[in-house]
Amino acid sequence: MLRIDKLTKRFGDNVAVDTATLDVDKPCMIGIIGRSGAGKSTLLRMINRLSDASEGRIMFKDRDVTNLTGKAKRAWQADCAMIFQQFNLVPRMDVVSNVLHGTLNHRATFATMFNLFPMADIHRAIDILDRLGIAEHAPKRAEALSGGQQQRVAIARALMQDPKIILADEPIASLDPMNAQTVMEALRRIHEEDGRTVIANLHTLDTARRYCDRVVGMRDGRIVFDGLPEQLTTGVAREIYGADATFSEAATSTEIETLDATIRAERMEAKAHV
Ligand SMILES: Nc1ncnc2c1ncn2[C@@H]1O[C@H](COP(=O)(O)OP(=O)(O)O)[C@@H](O)[C@H]1O
Ligand SMILES: [Mg+2]
Repeated sequence: MLRIDKLTKRFGDNVAVDTATLDVDKPCMIGIIGRSGAGKSTLLRMINRLSDASEGRIMFKDRDVTNLTGKAKRAWQADCAMIFQQFNLVPRMDVVSNVLHGTLNHRATFATMFNLFPMADIHRAIDILDRLGIAEHAPKRAEALSGGQQQRVAIARALMQDPKIILADEPIASLDPMNAQTVMEALRRIHEEDGRTVIANLHTLDTARRYCDRVVGMRDGRIVFDGLPEQLTTGVAREIYGADATFSEAATSTEIETLDATIRAERMEAKAHV
């Protein structure tokens, strides 16, 4: 389905993404983890064509999308909708208009200038908001909503494009644990119920492990791990994050300890069932 072949991005002498190869052969939910600066955002931005690759190829359903331009490029960008840590909504505009802006790629400039949205689109936007549990906020300004609600508005805007893939760059990094959980559950449901692929950059291991079918680890621009969440042992995590001082940063080390404890508990449980 989605095939990324030796994708590389250089910024001057700095290689932000180094010959990354990834094959997604069926819809799934993928978590990308790694330290800050590992190349996670650059990889997603290249897939979505916000950033052009220096080398390598991106194939979707046997079609090369690496160098698309104009209309074809915009159509691809609608197929792989992107959501961001900071939501990127228009704060003073109402929620439903923010969601309707997800259809802008398909609409004439004239209609866009006058905010003329077809009734069918408005109904669809409200249905999507309803599905995400935030329909009652449709008339409010985006800025009046909590972070978790705003991120769900951003997800709704992405869904308006009916994307095959959702690319999420640290979607929960600015949210408290409760809101983070709601947003991750929404993404998981969208994957399971609609069969869309979700690729999310995540800053914590436990989130990747909990919600994703597959985890990709990046370090210094390279993909150094690609496997099942249960294969993500402490040793592997150490390799991804680097076994130096940064690794003992509270967030990550706590999560690793929790991870180890969870794995141990699950193993004990598995044994008890034999
Ligand atoms: N627009 C840019 N110009 C120059 N360097 C960049 C740019 N974007 C990212 N980089 C560099 O590329 C590397 C990877 O960055 P990024 O993809 O943002 O990593 P991550 O998302 O994993 O934190 C870093 O060294 C970063 O400084
Ligand atoms: Mg990033």
